[in-house]
This record gives sequence, C-alpha cells and structure tokens, in this order.
Amino acid sequence: MNHRVLVLNGPNLRRLGTREPDVYGSASFEDLTALCRDAGRRLGLEVEVRQTDDEAEMIRWVHEAADERLPVVINPAAFTHYSYALRDALAQLNGPLVEVHISNPAAREEFRHTSVVAGVATGTIAGFGFMSYVLALQAVAELLAENAGDAGRAARA
Ligand code: DQA
Repeated sequence: MNHRVLVLNGPNLRRLGTREPDVYGSASFEDLTALCRDAGRRLGLEVEVRQTDDEAEMIRWVHEAADERLPVVINPAAFTHYSYALRDALAQLNGPLVEVHISNPAAREEFRHTSVVAGVATGTIAGFGFMSYVLALQAVAELLAENAGDAGRAARA
C-alpha cells in the first residue's frame, strides 16, 4: 500500500515561474507538482501537493496531517522566518517532517537565516532548486522503510 504524503507550500509559491526567476527558476508550480507526483510514484508514495497564501489554512492542513499521522514535506516560504503558530502546529506531527527550500536561505538576506520551524523538523533540505523536494521525498521514503523494518522486527521479537 502506498503511503500518503502531504507536500505543503506556503505563500507566493503558486507564482513560481514568474516570481523572481533568477532566484526560483522558470519552471511553474504545476511543473513542481508533476515532479513531486512522479518522484512519489517511483518511491511508492502517494503525494498530495497543496499551496496556500493563508497561514490559517496551512495550520489546518498540518492539523489534518497530525490527526491522520501523515508524513509532511513543507516549504513554509516566508512563514519559515516568523510563524510561531505554524511551528507550534508542526510540533504536533508524529511522522517524518522535512522542511524544504528551493533557494538556500542561508546564502540570502539576514532575515532568511532564521527558521522558526527547523527545530521541530526531522531535517531540512535547501538550495537544490526543485530537486530539494525530490530529495525530501527520498528521505521520507527511507524513514518510512526504516520504521516499517523496526515495526516488523518488534512484531517478530
Ligand atoms: C523559500 C525561501 C524563503 O525565504 C522565501 O520567503 C520563499 C521561498 C524557498 O523555497 O527558497 O518564499 O522558502
């Protein structure tokens, strides 16, 4: 059975392709969605890609992931740098949580050097363009496989 994974995207990311292409590239949000779904298919994951400009909606999606025990890949976009509400929501997750960024925020303006969500993430992948998402999905697949192995061993013990 394929594992469901939510790939959540924060503000302005639907404008990929036209938004600062020198920073984020010329491919669109639809291209990103297709890339994530394809990567998911190869990895045995059922990937659902969503985007919102609304902090409340993003938090509701994280609650849904917590209630359904779903792994999450999230690009919180600008919420990364200031949303304690999103961090508190993400802290409630029980599965793998990978923070991703298209650009490398550490190499950009000072305000982007702080991530208020990194401390509750399993790990962070940044700076690889859209490939950051593929690497994040690979990490989720590996972590799920490890957990399945642990559960199997526990059941046989
Ligand atoms: C971003 C980096 C953030 O600093 C910025 O606010 C974004 C996109 C990235 O993917 O590189 O909107 O998360």
